[in-house]
Amino acid sequence: MHKTILVTGATGTVGREVVKQLSMLDDIRVRAGVHSLIKGENLRRLPDVEVVEMEFENPESLHAAFTHADKVFMITPFAYDQVEQARILVDEAKRADVQHIVRLSASGADAEPGIQLGRWHREIERDIEQSGISYTHLRPTSFMQNFVNYCAESIKQEGKFYMPVGDGKVSYVDVRDVAAVGVEALIGNGHEGQAYEISGPEALSHTEIADIFSQVLKTDIQYVDVPEHTALQSMLSQSMPEWMANAMLELYGVYKSGYGCHVTDTVQRVVGRPARSFLHFVQDYNHCFVESKL
Ligand SMILES: NC(=O)c1ccc[n+]([C@@H]2O[C@H](COP(=O)([O-])OP(=O)(O)OC[C@H]3O[C@@H](n4cnc5c(N)ncnc54)[C@H](OP(=O)(O)O)[C@@H]3O)[C@@H](O)[C@H]2O)c1
Repeated sequence: MHKTILVTGATGTVGREVVKQLSMLDDIRVRAGVHSLIKGENLRRLPDVEVVEMEFENPESLHAAFTHADKVFMITPFAYDQVEQARILVDEAKRADVQHIVRLSASGADAEPGIQLGRWHREIERDIEQSGISYTHLRPTSFMQNFVNYCAESIKQEGKFYMPVGDGKVSYVDVRDVAAVGVEALIGNGHEGQAYEISGPEALSHTEIADIFSQVLKTDIQYVDVPEHTALQSMLSQSMPEWMANAMLELYGVYKSGYGCHVTDTVQRVVGRPARSFLHFVQDYNHCFVESKL
């Protein structure tokens, strides 16, 4: 029988990859929960994907999205009220008798005392655990695709990217691998009650990352280590709210201190193949880092 799997945040960095991978499977109906129908238009082209409008603040939209959903891949955005948003989604999942939730959390969510970002994620994880619904938590490190979302312009225009992380190494993970672990947790067996720390295959310094960009793009790309106050000013000048800029600085501080380098074999264990390397990522996303000739 066909299972219906609801993906929230389906137009986001991880959500659209989860929808894509689920759409390739037989016997699965994918329901892509999108905040904006216009942004969700591309997802309609995938086989067996139903696109539904979903606004976490609008209970009616949630009722419609959760009705007859068997399982949920639950993503909430990096928002100040993310714990409250997630609570509303868990309540809806209970009402709809959902069988399993795969939650996109973050690496170090259970660290004590940890950082604010992790504490929010752990609070949400606890709400899910207490709901009585079967669950799997995904705890990925920072995404390789952040370089597409946040560094592509400066790489294209200046041949540089800026971060306040010193020589700290980070075991960045490709979101395609995060999605693959999530898909297996949704359709496979034995993932109930698990919390998967997910990383890429190696921890790299940002100088090493710059060298990989230089090698693939065949031009000199440099990492610029910026002081914390410069990073803060830069984030605020791009209209980032202060709470978010401070949370990001706290995360960068963890990386600078060398605590972002933990490497796991989760992708290999759960999906049965190695995690993609940073080199593989830059080769595949090459086009995002060069000016279009059109
Ligand atoms: N970035 C990282 O390196 C990293 C690493 C580990 C964990 N995480 C975690 O990953 C999560 C974010 O995942 P992501 O990067 O895939 O997200 P994303 O790209 O920021 O996308 C967020 C999605 O949520 C939707 N959304 C926003 N507000 C909404 C609302 N009020 N109602 C319904 N939908 C709404 C967005 O739609 P619109 O765009 O149309 O608003 C979008 O589809 C966060 O919890 C973050 O802590 C991130």
